[in-house]
Amino acid sequence: MSLNPEIDYGTPKSEAEKMVTLTIDGVEVEVPEGTSVMRAAMELGTQIPKLCATDMVEAFGSCRLCLIEIEGRNGTPASCTTPAAHGMVVKTQTDRLKRLRKGVMELYISEHPLDCLTCSANGDCELQDMAGAVGLRDVRYGYDGARHPNPGIDASNPYFTYEPSKCIVCSRCVRACEEVQGTFALTIAGRGFSSVVSPSMEQPFIDSECVSCGACVQACPTATLNEKSVIDIGTPDKAVVTTCAYCGVGCTFRAEMRGDELVRMIPYKEGKANRGHSCVKGRFAYGYAHHKDRITKPMIREKITDPWREVSWEEPIQYTASEFKRIQAKYGKGSVGGITSSRCTNEETYLVQKLIRAAFGNNNVDTCARVCHSPTGYGLKTTLGESAGTQDFDSVEQTDVVLIIGANPTDGHPVFASRMKKRLRDGAKLIIVDPRRIDLVRTPHIEADYHLPLKPGTNVAVVTSLAHVVVTEGLVNEKFVRERCDWDEFQEWAAFAADPRHSPEAVEKFTGVPAEAIRGAARLYATGGNSAIYYGLGVTEHSQGSTTVMAIANLAMATGNMGRKGVGVNPLRGQNNVQGSCDMGSFPHELPGYRHVSDDATIELFEQLWGRPLDNEPGLRIPNMIDAALDGSFKGIYIQGEDILQSDPNTQHMAAGLAAMECVVVQDLFLIETANYAHVFLPGSTFLEKNGTFTNAERRIQRVRKVMAPVNGYEDWEITQMLSGALGYPMQYDHPSQIMDEIARLTPTFQGVSYEKLDELGSVQWPCNEAAPGGTPIMHIDSFVRGKGKFVITEYVATDEKTGPRFPLLLTTGRILSQYNVGAQTRRTANVVWHEEDRLEIHPSDAENRGVRDGDWVKIASRTGETTLRALITDRVASGVVYTTFHHPSTQVNVVTTEFSDWATNCPEYKVTAVQIAPSNGPSEWQEEYEELSKAARRIAEPLVAAE
Ligand code: SF4
Ligand code: SF4
Ligand code: SF4
Ligand code: FES
Repeated sequence: MSLNPEIDYGTPKSEAEKMVTLTIDGVEVEVPEGTSVMRAAMELGTQIPKLCATDMVEAFGSCRLCLIEIEGRNGTPASCTTPAAHGMVVKTQTDRLKRLRKGVMELYISEHPLDCLTCSANGDCELQDMAGAVGLRDVRYGYDGARHPNPGIDASNPYFTYEPSKCIVCSRCVRACEEVQGTFALTIAGRGFSSVVSPSMEQPFIDSECVSCGACVQACPTATLNEKSVIDIGTPDKAVVTTCAYCGVGCTFRAEMRGDELVRMIPYKEGKANRGHSCVKGRFAYGYAHHKDRITKPMIREKITDPWREVSWEEPIQYTASEFKRIQAKYGKGSVGGITSSRCTNEETYLVQKLIRAAFGNNNVDTCARVCHSPTGYGLKTTLGESAGTQDFDSVEQTDVVLIIGANPTDGHPVFASRMKKRLRDGAKLIIVDPRRIDLVRTPHIEADYHLPLKPGTNVAVVTSLAHVVVTEGLVNEKFVRERCDWDEFQEWAAFAADPRHSPEAVEKFTGVPAEAIRGAARLYATGGNSAIYYGLGVTEHSQGSTTVMAIANLAMATGNMGRKGVGVNPLRGQNNVQGSCDMGSFPHELPGYRHVSDDATIELFEQLWGRPLDNEPGLRIPNMIDAALDGSFKGIYIQGEDILQSDPNTQHMAAGLAAMECVVVQDLFLIETANYAHVFLPGSTFLEKNGTFTNAERRIQRVRKVMAPVNGYEDWEITQMLSGALGYPMQYDHPSQIMDEIARLTPTFQGVSYEKLDELGSVQWPCNEAAPGGTPIMHIDSFVRGKGKFVITEYVATDEKTGPRFPLLLTTGRILSQYNVGAQTRRTANVVWHEEDRLEIHPSDAENRGVRDGDWVKIASRTGETTLRALITDRVASGVVYTTFHHPSTQVNVVTTEFSDWATNCPEYKVTAVQIAPSNGPSEWQEEYEELSKAARRIAEPLVAAE
C-alpha cells in the first residue's frame, strides 16, 4: 500500500473523436481535439506549473503560471486555456517562461503566511510544490507587506475548516461547487487584493447553502479549505481504493491512511459511478466505524429481559446452532429463517442465503429490498425480462428529457443528482412527478418544465394518463413497438390507455394534477428527443408499486425510449447493495440470478455444487415470517445487517412477532432496535474492515477492499461460515474472491466476473459473460431480455388506505441528504448537526387550521398507532399532505404506517398513510416507555472479576 495519488491532468478530458497531433518540447503527442496544451503535455509526463487549473473543473486562466511559447505566435499564452491544435509546436521550458513563472510565484508568496512548517498541508500543498517547481528561493518584495485578508478561521463545518489568510483566490473551490456539485454556494466577494471566498451571503459555511460534499476542499490547492481530520491526524501516507457503503450510487474512494488511522476519503476520479465526486456521507461520515456504541464482542442472553453477557465467539455460534436445531426438531424445518442485508457485500449476502437454503433446508430468506425495490424486480422482469435498471449513469449525459417520478435525487442519490443537474444546466428538459416540491423543481440554474404534484397513491393513474396522451395524440413510436414488442399485447394496451377514463381531464379530479400539465409533460416526454425515466421509492412503496413500475416500462416502450444511451428506465436504488442483495438470491422464491426455486434445472445445478437437497417451494417473506411467528409456527431468525423493527411498517406488529420467537440472532455494528428482541448478538464489521463487492443501481459490480482489520475479529462472511459449520454444513472459503468464483459458476449473468477482472477493469456491469466479457452498460439494445417487450394493462385501483373525518391528511415518508436509512450509522457521526431529529413537514394552511406553529410538538395518529414529533411548516408539501423522515428511532414513525402492501411483492405502502395531526405537549407516553424499554434491553452485564 502506498499513497500513489491520482494524476491531475490540469483540465478535463476531451470526449472528441477527432485527434490532433502537436509537438511539445520536441516530442510529438496525439490527443483528442479540444484537449488543452496543459493536458497534452501531461499525457507526455510533462507537468507545466499551474495553480488555478485542476482537471475536475474547466480551465479559468487566472494565475498565469502555466505560460507556454507557441511557434509562430506572439506572447506567452496560458496552457490551460489554449486548445491543442494540429501541427502546433509548443515549448514549456524556456528562460523567458522560467523568469515569468518565478515572478508570478514571488507575488503569490509575498502575501502568503510563511508558516509552511507548521501548516496542516505541509507536504500536500500545491503552492509549496509550485514554489519549488519554479525554483523560487527568495522574494524581492520582502515579507513585510500587506497580507491577504484574514477575517479568521471558519471552523463551523464539522468536517473542514476555511482559513482565508491562506487563500490564493484561484476560484477552484467556487468552480467545483458550481460545475461538479451544482450547488453554487460559493462566490468571490470583494475586489482585487481584498477578494475572499464567501459562502452564500458571507455566512459561515454551516449556515450557508453548502451541502458539505467536499468538492471545494478537494479542489483547493492550499490549506485554505482543509479536512479537520488532516489537521488532527496529519497527511496520509498510503491509500486503498474502495466503495462507499451508503447509497446505491456506489461512489468509489481512495481511503487515505496514516499508519492504521483513516485520515480521509478522497473520491476516486477513475470511479465510473462518481467520476471523482462525493457527497457528505461517503466523503466524511465514516466516524461510526469507531463510535463508542460499536459492539465488538459477541453477546448472549437467555431471555430478552436479561442483561447481555459478553462471551467468546465459540459460545454464541454453538448456542445459535443448537437452538436452531432444537427449534426445527420441535416445530419443523420451516420454523426458522433469515434476512440478508443490502448493506453487506454480495459475497456475504450470497452466503446467508446459501446457509438458509442448504443448512436450514428451507427457502425462508428475504431481504430489506422487500420494503423498497421488490416491485422493481417484479415489474421490470415482467415487462422487459430483467430485474434491473437499463442504463449506466453516464447515459444521462445524452438525455434530452429527464422524467423523475417519486425520487428525490439531491437527497437520496446526491452524486448522481450532481451529474443530472449538470446535464439539466446544459439544456436537458425536466419533468418531476412528486407530491412534494423537491429541490430539483427549482434550484440554482435549473427549473422543472413540469412539476406534477400528484396526491400520494395516484401514481398509476398519472402514468397511465401520460400514456393516454401518447396513444391518443399519435405520439407512439410504432416502428419501435412493431419491431421490439409484442404487437398484439400493445394493441390491447393502447386501447386500454386510450379509454377516456384515463384522460388527463378525467384523472385531474382525484390525482390533483392539472390536466394541461399532464398533457404538456406527456408531449415533452414523447417528442423531446432522448427521454429517460428515473424513479425511486415514491413509485415502489405503494399498494400498486409493481403496477406503476410496469406503467413506466409501458410508457418507455411505447415511445421507443429503450435500448440506447440517453433513454431507459432507471430505478434509483436506496442502499449501497440493494441491487446486489437481490441479484444474490435473497428473495424466498429466487435463487441467485433471479431463477425461480421451482425450476428443476436450476435446482439441480445448485444441489450438485452445494451438495444438499434443496426445497423447490418458495419460502416466507418478512411479513409472512412475522405473521407465522405470531401464529406460533416460526421461532428462530438470523438477521444480518438489517433493523426490521425500525425500518419495517407497523412497528407494534413487528415487535410482537419478534417477541414471540425463541431465538433471534442479530448480526450488526450496534445494538439496533431489533436487537432489543435478540437472544444472540454477533458483532458485525464495517465496509472498511472487509473484502468483497457491492453492486450499485446501474448493475455495476465494484470492489470493497479491506482498509483495516475488523475490530470484532471477523468479516461478516466469516461469521456466517462459522455458523454454517456449527450447523453441520461446513463452508470452506479462505477469501471472498472464492465466493465470487462460486457465484460466477452458478449465475449466467455473473459468469465472467472475477476479482482479477474487477481489479483490471475497475468495475463491470452485469450481465458479464461470454457474450459480454467487459459487462453491459446499456441493456436491451437489440432485443429485450425476455424477447418481445411486454405491455401490461395497468388498471388504477385506489388504495384501501382512505382519508376521512378521523384521518384527513396523507402522510408520506422519505429521507434527507445527511442521514441514511434508519440512521444507525449517520446518527453516530457529526452529520447529526444537519438533522438532529425527524420533523413533520406540514403545509401552512393545514398547520393554521390545527393551531400548530413552526417547531411545536405535534401528535401524528393513524388507525395503527400514534407518535409525536416537531412540526416544520413549509409549502414544499401540498395542503392535505404531510411528510417526515424515519432516521431517528425516538420518532418511531413506522408506528403509524399500516400493514397495506404492494399486491405483487408485499412491499409496504409507506408512502400513503391517512393521519390526523394535533398539537401536543411533547413526546408521547408511549415514546418515553419505549425509550426506557430500549435502555433496559441494551444493558450489558459487568464482566465478572475474579475475587482477589
Ligand atoms: S462542500 Fe460542496 S456544497 Fe459546500 S461549498 Fe464546497 S463544493 Fe459547495
Ligand atoms: S479557498 Fe482554495 S480553492 Fe478557493 S480560491 Fe482560495 S485557494 Fe483557491
Ligand atoms: S452519493 Fe451515495 S455512494 Fe456516493 S458518496 Fe454519497 S452516499 Fe456514498
Ligand atoms: S493554471 Fe493556467 S492560468 Fe492558472
